[in-house]
Amino acid sequence: MAIPHPIPYQGSKRRLAPVIARHFPADTHRLYEPFAGSAAMTLHAARHGLAQRFVIADSLPPLVELWRAIIECPAQTAARYRRVWQRQFATGGEHFRVVRTRYNRDRDPVDLLYLLCRCVKNAVRFNARGEFTQAADRRRHGTHPDRMQASIEGASLLLRGRVELRCGDWQRTTADATPRDFLYLDPPYLGTSTGRDRRYHSQLPQQHLIDGLAQLRGRGLRFALSYDGSTGAKVYGPPLPGHLGLLRLRIDAGRSAQATLSGRRERTVESVYLSPGSVPDVAASGASSRPSSHASTGGATIEVSKDIATSTA
Ligand SMILES: C[S@@+](CC[C@H](N)C(=O)[O-])C[C@H]1O[C@@H](n2cnc3c(N)ncnc32)[C@H](O)[C@@H]1O
Repeated sequence: MAIPHPIPYQGSKRRLAPVIARHFPADTHRLYEPFAGSAAMTLHAARHGLAQRFVIADSLPPLVELWRAIIECPAQTAARYRRVWQRQFATGGEHFRVVRTRYNRDRDPVDLLYLLCRCVKNAVRFNARGEFTQAADRRRHGTHPDRMQASIEGASLLLRGRVELRCGDWQRTTADATPRDFLYLDPPYLGTSTGRDRRYHSQLPQQHLIDGLAQLRGRGLRFALSYDGSTGAKVYGPPLPGHLGLLRLRIDAGRSAQATLSGRRERTVESVYLSPGSVPDVAASGASSRPSSHASTGGATIEVSKDIATSTA
């Protein structure tokens, strides 16, 4: 059965999740997803029994509240989404703007869900005041309420009773992780999230990330991190320094939809960095590797040539 995904979110790891999950240790007690967004890795891991308990966390408060509403009150949340969605046919073209203004005043999580479903490329954009600024995609109505209800109920069934929701900076929300746990980190990429047109509501300076990762290593924690990547010749973010002792996999994420729309045949390659203690399941990924020992890897690269577009079908 398909994994339910109630929150459409640009940057979601929904398609890559099966490949990234191959590197999760088999004995994971709690899976932390401190940059959760749509929590694609948590949903995948919960469906496939890859951890016993889960921590979903993000620094955007209404997003965390949306997860709470989905997991704890699925029927009411689906019904509220249905009402907001249906009103667009009664009030016409202004509806998106009305909901956006209301969201920026009240920060209602169900309004955020509607905005995510209806906005251009499902891509959150915020101004310096933290207000949602993305425009409506006029060609779509957003996820149909029947489908949304099924996704919300499915996600609630998967996660209820075994997930803890936290709001805040990733270092704070992972402060109690232990070496029995596993962390999947997916911070905003440098190069996609800075500047005036901000993807996500907050940015993460690379040095802050590097210092935080060094601390995780010092605590003996196991983690996987999605970080830099490239589409064609465009590179997002510099690679992480070798002194962190992480193994870098490069995953072919398939053809870039954005580039295809612009008539270019470019592929997206994403980096996943693994701490010692994760499973470098390189053979299963059809990869060639150099060198394979964590002790000497530094910033070593393992090329993973699997094409996600075909492997997750
Ligand atoms: C690339 S998205 C994560 C996408 C996610 N993996 C998914 O499957 O949808 C990054 C997320 O990190 C959050 N974020 C940004 N800075 C953060 C910080 N310092 N601590 C925690 N979360 C942060 C953003 O709100 C955003 O939801």
